[in-house]
Amino acid sequence: MRIGIDFGTSYSAAGAVVDGQLQLVRFGDEHQFRTTVYFPLRLPDIRHFELTPELEREASLIAARATAYQREQLDRARQARAAAMREPEGRREHALAMIPTPVEQTPEQIRASSIQAVRRQWMAEQARLAREETGLDLQNALYGDEATDAYVDSGTGHLVVSPKSMLGYRLSGSARDTLLGITTHILRHIRTTASAQFGTEVRSAVLGRPVRFRSSMQEAGGVQAQQILMDAAHAAGFEAIEFLQEPAAAAIGFHRQTQSPRRVMVVDIGGGTTDLALANVGGPTPAPTILGAWGEPVGGTDVDIELSMRALMPLFGKGVTRTPVHHFYEASAAQDFERQANFRRTVFRDVDAPFDRRLERLQATGHTVRLNRAVEGAKIRLSADTVVNVELDYIEDGLRTEVQRPQVDQAASRFLSLLRTLMRGALREMQAPPEAVYLTGGMSRSPYIRDAVAVELPGTDIVQGNASLGVVTGLAYAASD
Ligand SMILES: Nc1ncnc2c1ncn2[C@@H]1O[C@H](COP(=O)(O)OP(=O)(O)OP(=O)(O)O)[C@@H](O)[C@H]1O
Ligand SMILES: [Mg+2]
Repeated sequence: MRIGIDFGTSYSAAGAVVDGQLQLVRFGDEHQFRTTVYFPLRLPDIRHFELTPELEREASLIAARATAYQREQLDRARQARAAAMREPEGRREHALAMIPTPVEQTPEQIRASSIQAVRRQWMAEQARLAREETGLDLQNALYGDEATDAYVDSGTGHLVVSPKSMLGYRLSGSARDTLLGITTHILRHIRTTASAQFGTEVRSAVLGRPVRFRSSMQEAGGVQAQQILMDAAHAAGFEAIEFLQEPAAAAIGFHRQTQSPRRVMVVDIGGGTTDLALANVGGPTPAPTILGAWGEPVGGTDVDIELSMRALMPLFGKGVTRTPVHHFYEASAAQDFERQANFRRTVFRDVDAPFDRRLERLQATGHTVRLNRAVEGAKIRLSADTVVNVELDYIEDGLRTEVQRPQVDQAASRFLSLLRTLMRGALREMQAPPEAVYLTGGMSRSPYIRDAVAVELPGTDIVQGNASLGVVTGLAYAASD
């Protein structure tokens, strides 16, 4: 059996066609889960230390070595003193002063420090085992909102948000392996959940990919991203993997629900990427004809970062103190683990009150993630409401702010201008304009996206697809062919 997988920046989903029927994989009560994974780091607890016979032997060995060493040092000092005493009167004083006095411990003291040494070794070994386990043991990982909750509540472990957005970045040292490991965990989670639901070992998949991955290395970033995805899929137990561009997948889904043939422009706006495809959909053919695809690696997370910078960061001193702006950006970019690490390492002691304390509270485990969730929540609610409240009690008692619709419009303006440029470029390359627009992706729920699309294609019929499941539906159909 072959499944379709939408490994999204914000949400992931999977599905298959079973006996001609589309079946989406259930993750808990939902058909998707937030692409976030948590690895609890089981910190060694010294209370669990026990002096087993084996450790007792180890302690005795250490004690024996320490006793022998002490005896040797004492003998050496004794001999040196005897030699000094043989020196002539005038030099004797000086010679005696030059002899170090060895520390003389009682057998009880030696035994106590040997046990201390064994305890230290035990702690180091437990930490090493815990690190290995969190790297390898699937049992310990949590996914989706559960992952975020566990991280915020426990204050320990590792949380990785939106790993897809990092796949195309220049990765230093072990970062590639880490990202590969995380992606493997997620794809294995999808494979085992799908296998359990469909009652068969799933080993084959069609995996969605954006037209252009988010990347710091232009084209090379896209090549790297797809390679990591491929390696991760194999490590996760898939034997056959094919890639399909996400907007082409959405076109396949739309094709299935369209009676008469139409030329449509698919617009898929997700958390990390914005993709377009031009396709002939509908009619009796089994699949649509994809005439072209275009992409820009920007999406909802960019709007979130902008909104955080404009609406929330002033509460932490942005525009008020002389704190360099990049620190606020680092705090806002929750999916970028290098930036997050930089933010947490920064010392804010010298920032003016009350911003010093607020920034330090924001550095506490899980707080930038909470802030980021609150910003995203505000953005989502402002698609329907005109004003929302954001509470930041975990930073400071009673700290709160109001976010207004115009602030989201401003935060989205750079993104919208990139979307319009992308659409114009694509329209120029098209031989004839589309007869309809098919909108999908979570961001397509916002009024400003619809408005921007309507401005570029006045009078064109806009069909709102399933914002969350448009892509995975098409991938599931593609997998069934
Ligand atoms: N009602 C809403 N208004 C505005 N934005 C929304 C709304 N609902 C969801 N979003 C945004 O949509 C984005 C997620 O969309 P989607 O699930 O399509 O992304 P994805 O498929 O995970 O990402 P990508 O395709 O870029 O890899 C998030 O940025 C989310 O905040
Ligand atoms: Mg998507």
